[in-house]
Amino acid sequence: MSSHGAPIPMISRKCGPLSGDAHVPGDKSISHRSLILGALSIGRTEVFGLLEGQDVLDTAKAMQAFGATVEQHGVGHWTIDGVGVGGFAEPQNVIDCGNSGTGVRLIMGCMATTGITVTFTGDASLNKRPMARVTDPISLFGAQSFGRQGGRLPMTIVGAANPVPVSYKVPVPSAQVKSAVLLAGLNAPGKTVVIEQEATRDHTERMLVGFGAELTVEDTTQGRVITLTGQPELKAQTIVVPRDPSSAAFPVCAALIVKGSDVLVPNIGLNPTRAGLFTTLREMGADLTYENEREEGGEPVADLRARYSPNMTGIAVPPERAASMIDEYPVLSVVAAFAQGDTVMKGVKELRVKESDRIDAMAKGLRANGVTVEEGDDWWIVTGCGMGNVAGGALCETFLDHRIAMSFMVMGMASSAPVTIDDCGPIATSFPIFEGLMADLGAVLERM
Ligand code: S3P
Repeated sequence: MSSHGAPIPMISRKCGPLSGDAHVPGDKSISHRSLILGALSIGRTEVFGLLEGQDVLDTAKAMQAFGATVEQHGVGHWTIDGVGVGGFAEPQNVIDCGNSGTGVRLIMGCMATTGITVTFTGDASLNKRPMARVTDPISLFGAQSFGRQGGRLPMTIVGAANPVPVSYKVPVPSAQVKSAVLLAGLNAPGKTVVIEQEATRDHTERMLVGFGAELTVEDTTQGRVITLTGQPELKAQTIVVPRDPSSAAFPVCAALIVKGSDVLVPNIGLNPTRAGLFTTLREMGADLTYENEREEGGEPVADLRARYSPNMTGIAVPPERAASMIDEYPVLSVVAAFAQGDTVMKGVKELRVKESDRIDAMAKGLRANGVTVEEGDDWWIVTGCGMGNVAGGALCETFLDHRIAMSFMVMGMASSAPVTIDDCGPIATSFPIFEGLMADLGAVLERM
């Protein structure tokens, strides 16, 4: 079942060259944060280029339930009239975050230091994911949580009416956990300190500074030490959301493996905490260039040009790069299947607790389609078949995971026999225009 309706099975067939411009939607991480920080500000925040995927729409609905006024004015153009830090009202009903781990974890952080009680739920995928990674640190502020066994949703959180600031070393490389702690720290008096051993995406830090919070980042021998001064007055902002590198990954990778392709993916945010996939692809020998490199809204941006790359070879992806490409391993494993030799991906335990167990989901679908995959708890190796040599012809299960669905759609575009995907419904969570955009480039995708 997809999260918001009946399953949508699809077939992806081998296609001719992909060509043209691929205008992918706005960044999902920045879209969630724009709505949340807008809701925590005083005044009207205006957002252009907001991703209108289901995950972000669920966060918009949640912000309304907490008392902010959220309005859409045109495609991607939204305003949020905020309630200010500590101003969240108690929602009258359960907050349903759908498929979104980012949505639920960030919102838990925001309400944890407010004296309100909130019950959270999500779809079948989200309700399996671990929440203790957030409820542990927010309990240090004084919040209490009551969930299902193993810290699973549905879960009720009683926010701390008199929060204290905390110092917290994040035990897993997770921007969601880091962000939840920082957002909780917003309404605590004094200084909240978050230490992360590995740098994860830093949109929360950058945007908090943009909204007027006092926040410093120091690189120390212990890791990245982030210090936030609590109870600031956040001021409404105008935000132009860069396009999502994690969505750009799909047309880019498709172009690399479909014979004769030449695709331009304009205006992609290349924040170094997000761009690991593109570095990796270039190391594998991909014909992937950055054109028109520039800076927009404090973020590096470029147009990506990807051309068919018949001679890619597998590499050992440095584990320290994992956080900067954590959402891109599924589609990387598809490219790896078309390369020569082994692609070794280590230090990627986090893949097992995403929208699905992504190592398991990809390994199953790749193997069914003729690709050799070895796996362990926190590593996997894909043995490439070489360009044009992936058999295809089998059904892939997507386990309510948008990125698994899109990765197998990409695989079908260059496999010898068509690839069937059991449910493409979840793609709407992050990339609602995927099907039309890929078809416009020349992909042959059919709903069954
Ligand atoms: C996200 C952080 C990542 C990523 C997710 C978006 C964010 O999760 O997988 O898609 O916006 O903070 P973790 O922080 O749990 O690794």
